[in-house]
Amino acid sequence: IKVFVPKDSAAIAVGANAVAVAVAQEAERRGLAIELVRNGSRGLLWLETLVEIQTSAGRVAYGPVEQQDVAGLFDAGWLEGKPHALAHGLTEEIPYLKRQERLTFARVGITDPLSLSDYQAHNGFKGLEQALTLSPSAIVEQVTASGLRGRGGAAFPTGIKWKTVLATPADQKYIVCNADEGDSGTFSDRMLMEGDPYVLIEGMTIAGLATEATYGYIYVRSEYPYAIAALETAISHAREAGWLGSNIRNSGHAFDLEVRTAAGAYICGEETSMLESLEGRRGLVRAKPPLPAIAGLFGKPTVINNVISLASVPIILARGADFYRDYGMGRSTGTLPFQLAGNLKQGGLVEKAFGLTLNELLYDFGGGSASGKPLRAVQVGGPLGAYLPESQWSTPIDYEAYAAMQAMVGHGGLVAFDETADMSVLAEYAMEFCAIESCGKCTPCRIGAVRGTEVIAKIRRNEQREAQVVLLRDLCDTMLAGSLCALGGMTPYPVLSALEHFPEDFGLPATQTN
Ligand code: NAI
Ligand code: SF4
Repeated sequence: IKVFVPKDSAAIAVGANAVAVAVAQEAERRGLAIELVRNGSRGLLWLETLVEIQTSAGRVAYGPVEQQDVAGLFDAGWLEGKPHALAHGLTEEIPYLKRQERLTFARVGITDPLSLSDYQAHNGFKGLEQALTLSPSAIVEQVTASGLRGRGGAAFPTGIKWKTVLATPADQKYIVCNADEGDSGTFSDRMLMEGDPYVLIEGMTIAGLATEATYGYIYVRSEYPYAIAALETAISHAREAGWLGSNIRNSGHAFDLEVRTAAGAYICGEETSMLESLEGRRGLVRAKPPLPAIAGLFGKPTVINNVISLASVPIILARGADFYRDYGMGRSTGTLPFQLAGNLKQGGLVEKAFGLTLNELLYDFGGGSASGKPLRAVQVGGPLGAYLPESQWSTPIDYEAYAAMQAMVGHGGLVAFDETADMSVLAEYAMEFCAIESCGKCTPCRIGAVRGTEVIAKIRRNEQREAQVVLLRDLCDTMLAGSLCALGGMTPYPVLSALEHFPEDFGLPATQTN
């Protein structure tokens, strides 16, 4: 009998390793033969540690399981899928999971992340096999036609980026995967790397074939040791099996890659700063142009994509561009793995096609606030994303629709706040975050963020409040227009949205700022 206990960081954080040990020991004590699989997380984080038992009807879920529950679960007959207070029936039937459209996360939580045979048994390498039969420009064409846009947050069309690299002649080109997932409330990159590392390797190899790049780097944030370990093992297994190396599956094509541990700064997730870090220097932002697609790592043409963008490519090649493009709405095609965090009852990962609303995510999936108090604001898209009030929660999620309301979908992270949140404190924090994380290269950000923090503090203390609000707006204008990169350039979004939608928290009448 197969028993699945996740080895994902989020599960380990709540005791999954102790549960796994307890399951193995208890089975041995009772003389029961089990096969313990350490899978990725299903993304139902409030149920971690979510243990699954393979039955003839399918996998049955139990959670949240703690070490001390294990003996009782054996007594209750969970190996036969019998009921228990912690049982949730068939995992696939849990509404949170059943309502999702898992394309990129199709295997996460289902397979043994490090088993190549499991990966292949679940459609792994189908996209790469297809790519090996195509010319570089035909691969680029497929990715362009799918409508895939950068899932790191900027939403730039992936196919166009690859086309630029393919069209730039050079003796060496690179694929760099940005896995420095720094946005608050985000964890999809981590879950994917821990739960299905081969799909990222496959996506990067396809990117290499498409652009004639033969070497890749995965720049993983240092706070993700389990992801780093999973990737390193997966890379060596893939290499041994001929899926990486100088002659991939005897095709005559070469591609190999390595993992680099990131330097531990938010700004190192900015693409040019990441290149500096990869080259061994301090993470300072470079001016663009030249674009990394033309002159990137070590001055060579470089594809830089986020984990989720690259991991979405295999299914596009395997199932065709039309299959992927049929999901979503408008120019936001395909799916996005949303990450539900903050004050929500049911935090976790929800992969859905674009076009759903925040209301659906917050209530149908998230189950409302964890505190039981009414929800008041949601920050979407990380620390540089706007705070959205309830009046905007019914807007279908689409890159363009969000841009039109001065918000961004970004990397798909949601942090929910209930009515006790003081939005002026959060606005001050946004400026403070920028001041701490600024690389210091340009003045609007380096000095603006420090002054911004002070100005918001003065507004909060009611020191010349009206004049300080004018000053804050002026400062935000300068940061928006004059910053070299998104850190300084987007910090005004959370600040201005808080001021706009929640003026009463700044001691202002609602009419004054609307
Ligand atoms: P950007 O809009 O400057 O660039 C987007 C991408 O397209 C870059 O890779 C750029 O090199 C490329 N590009 C632009 N024109 C091109 C062309 N003609 N040919 C080929 N490539 C081209 O945005 P940026 O500064 O890279 O990213 C900002 C975004 O990052 C923000 O919107 C935010 O959502 C996101 N972000 C994500 C974080 C995370 O942890 N995932 C953290 C912080 C910000
Ligand atoms: Fe550096 Fe901030 Fe300027 Fe970006 S906006 S280059 S982080 S100083």
